Amino acid sequence: MSILEKHQIIEKNATLLLVGSLLVVSVGGIVEIAPLFYLQNTIEKVEGMRPYTPLELAGRNIYVREGCYVCHSQMIRPFRDEVERYGHYSLAAESMYDHPFQWGSKRTGPDLARVGGRYSNEWQVQHLADPRAVVPESIMPSYAFLKTNEVAAKDVGMDLKANRVVGVPYTPAMIANAEADMKLQADPNADTTALLERYPKAKTGDFDGDPSKLTEMDALVAYLQMLGTLVDYSTYDDATGYR
Ligand code: HEC
Repeated sequence: MSILEKHQIIEKNATLLLVGSLLVVSVGGIVEIAPLFYLQNTIEKVEGMRPYTPLELAGRNIYVREGCYVCHSQMIRPFRDEVERYGHYSLAAESMYDHPFQWGSKRTGPDLARVGGRYSNEWQVQHLADPRAVVPESIMPSYAFLKTNEVAAKDVGMDLKANRVVGVPYTPAMIANAEADMKLQADPNADTTALLERYPKAKTGDFDGDPSKLTEMDALVAYLQMLGTLVDYSTYDDATGYR
């Protein structure tokens, strides 16, 4: 019997063909999936990552609500041109507390993964309110209304809780203090010692130029100013993870 004839036995028997196909598919599946079970962690270990402060988290929600991801990615790819323009390529660890992540796939505007600290708060506010006032050729829409919308501070504790359910390590103290922490971060006269202990490297002070109100602009700018600033790359080595 030739190999062709042997194969015809399988082809002409529906049950045999089904069992055979399942066998082939499962072998392929196991080869792909099994190694993941044995990897300690598929996310590299880095120092400096922490959950978002309540104010940053509120800003992130506004970022998602306004669809900023439609024009902006937050994922610097490991290519020389990207690294030269935006900084160190993104690490998986940098979006491990993002639910959902904001990598994006469309760049009408620049990547924002490391925009934190690149501009002053004043620039960010002016740019969001009227992009063409600072970048004349810009096609970005205006988000001036964020300056008058007050942030819904009451619900932020529940938001932290929900994030905890999906694995973000918010502590009970962080959840209990969420509303207070949110107001503290944008108050230029507040004592922020406890806040900074809970959330190292958090930028504090008034963000939107109006210290009397906690606006959505405060939250969004607080979020933008922390993007890409947490991991300390002076202690990170591409090959081994750590020096
Ligand atoms: C229609 C597409 C579009 C949308 C939506 C959009 N942007 Fe932009 N954005 C741009 C373009 C184009 C630029 C580059 C020109 C400029 O600086 O205005 C830009 C620039 C920026 C910059 C400056 C980045 C840099 O490195 O210079 C920031 C920050 C920014 N956008 C934030 C936002 C935020 C936050 C939102 C959502 C509230 C948003 N953008 C929504 C198109 C968009």
